[in-house]
Amino acid sequence: DISTTLAGVKLPNLLFNASGVCCQTEADLKLMVESESGSLITKSATFEQRDGNPSPRYTPLPGGIGSINSMGLPNEGYEYYLNYAKNYDYSSKKPLFISLSGLSLADNVKMCEAFVAADLPCVLEINYSCPNVPGKPQMGYDLEAMEHSLSVLAPIIKKPFGIKLPPYFDIAHFDQAAAVFNKFDNLAFVTCINSVGNGLAIDFETEEALIKPKDGFGGLGGLMVLNTALANVNAFHRRLPGKQVIGVGGVVSGKEAFLHVLAGASAVQIGTQLKEEGPGAFARIAKELSDIMVAKGYKTLEDFRGKVKTL
Ligand code: DHB
Repeated sequence: DISTTLAGVKLPNLLFNASGVCCQTEADLKLMVESESGSLITKSATFEQRDGNPSPRYTPLPGGIGSINSMGLPNEGYEYYLNYAKNYDYSSKKPLFISLSGLSLADNVKMCEAFVAADLPCVLEINYSCPNVPGKPQMGYDLEAMEHSLSVLAPIIKKPFGIKLPPYFDIAHFDQAAAVFNKFDNLAFVTCINSVGNGLAIDFETEEALIKPKDGFGGLGGLMVLNTALANVNAFHRRLPGKQVIGVGGVVSGKEAFLHVLAGASAVQIGTQLKEEGPGAFARIAKELSDIMVAKGYKTLEDFRGKVKTL
């Protein structure tokens, strides 16, 4: 049994896409619905449609270590995802998450108000961690701005909601961020982690950057970020009693999904591996995780969630 409950909604299994992968258009989302995922989340929406940055803007890195991207928030505009959410078949047992990434607080307010007015059973994930829009620093590293944003948005949303966070690398930052998040009762989950921002990948032979935007700088994902992801999941699992953590980063097989749950994840999102393998990744990883649980004698995720042993 790899079912889970997130923000009060039941997922038949804990796996779904990381926002940004296979979720921009209705065709992408249809693939997610038809897959063996336990849920799905839409591409981060801005108020207006965006084309994003010039290509190439995503590439896997050699050796299966991960990926780099600087997409620049290409999306269809929030009304497209609101319309999708209005027409979604919620009886399918696969809950729908909606990612919102307004370029200003005013835009986030307008988008949240529109979703609240529609009174739908989908769950909002506010993205505080897009590192790829030229000239726009991400809010995840400005705790005062994030607290102000949450103080405005949480009362508008009213229902349980979540936030997508960048990776943190300092224990004091875990403490400070958690202290902010604990002030908001309907903040039900944090999703850790977004890409490790602003890496640079260079081709050895051609001596060129691998992606075009931002002089080649982009967010790193995949196996190379697994341990940063596990640390962030566990740091917030320990510091946010009564809240949940969605783990994302470096899941290529059932083994990494298992480690995320051991670190404290209530659900696990898949980015780079889904992009590279396609939606068949969900059935494979779900099977691998189930086999690991049988081998270790665990019947449910609760049997080992957050139970990483320390020395
Ligand atoms: C993009 C990348 C992100 O990591 C994110 O959270 C949102 C958008 C992007 O470049 O499109």
